[in-house]
Amino acid sequence: MSNILDYETVALVDDDDAIEIIDQTLLPGKTEMIRLHTAQEIWDAIYLLQVRGAPAIGVTAGFGIYLLMKHSKAENYNEFIGELKEKSDYLNSSRPTAVNLSWALKRMQNHIFEFCNIKALEDGSVCLDSAKEYDLKGMICEMRDESERIKAEDIDVCRRIGEYGLTLIKDGYGLLTHCNAGQLATCKYGTATAPMYLAHEKGMNIKVYCDETRPLLQGARLTAYELHSAGIDTTLLCDNMSASLMKSGAINAIFVGCDRVAANGDAANKIGTSVVATVAKRYNIPFYVCAPTSTIDINTPTGEEINIEQRKPEEVTEMWYKERMAPEGIKVYNPAFDVTDNELIAGIVTEYGVLGAPYKEAIADLFNKIQKK
Ligand code: MRU
Repeated sequence: MSNILDYETVALVDDDDAIEIIDQTLLPGKTEMIRLHTAQEIWDAIYLLQVRGAPAIGVTAGFGIYLLMKHSKAENYNEFIGELKEKSDYLNSSRPTAVNLSWALKRMQNHIFEFCNIKALEDGSVCLDSAKEYDLKGMICEMRDESERIKAEDIDVCRRIGEYGLTLIKDGYGLLTHCNAGQLATCKYGTATAPMYLAHEKGMNIKVYCDETRPLLQGARLTAYELHSAGIDTTLLCDNMSASLMKSGAINAIFVGCDRVAANGDAANKIGTSVVATVAKRYNIPFYVCAPTSTIDINTPTGEEINIEQRKPEEVTEMWYKERMAPEGIKVYNPAFDVTDNELIAGIVTEYGVLGAPYKEAIADLFNKIQKK
């Protein structure tokens, strides 16, 4: 295998004894697969960005909690649920912004509750009155199937986002993206890149411009790499060049991913995204956020309440060079994400269609419809 797109971002391997991921910190220089077995290894891989991107983090968490519970020695529901919650909380503490992490862990827990007929109560406790007979093996089997379903759905959801996103692209378009919301951030297609892959598949002539995305260069190392590997006309630029590119008329539309969309449509994504959206508004370029519904958090009212991860200063002062490139002792500002205000967003592309403003109503309507299904 030589094309990066032929590798799986996340997979269960070794007879379900390990999660295999591509170590994304080494790309594009080295394609190295690593295997995660323990809670600490899974936590570290997410924190260190060896696996990253909201949907891929969610899939890893689903597989992770299954692997960890597979070794459970719990002899009754109280022990099992206690362990499930403790291990989920630990994995969930690895990164705070991408809601897919807690979404996947919650989904795994709720699936077990449903399978066992356990009632979750408002205060966080459970009612076991009508629960099925305790069956550890059966529950583990269910966890395996549910974690694989999360992965399979991610592929399907990204494809559907691609199809809706494609309706916003015309032949000859120049497209800009920031960070990596590509195949490496999901299990296939990516979110922001899905319309690009589909346009390319259809033989449309598009040009994609990738912001390098400081400080960790996901745009240069990952997005430029995967789009170029797919044969898409790809151009890399430094983050501070996108305004001049937009002013030049080369960009017809912008597609980015996101880590959490609040109930009012404010969208957290990689730091620098809101600068791109602000400049796009100045030049009347439509700015689209691609968001699987697993990334929309209706319990977070606005972007103000989104917990933005702060990362260590060394990512700014020395990462990738192994040598310091800033003065010793300098203070550093290093938030991993920022929030784009909903009024800068021309559309939120979900697997159910493209939502338009007012987003609070559009999101509430969509979730009502999904819940009724
Ligand atoms: O810090 P990262 O690399 O995990 O940040 C990733 C992003 O900001 C992506 O754009 C987002 O998670 C969407 S991935 C489909």
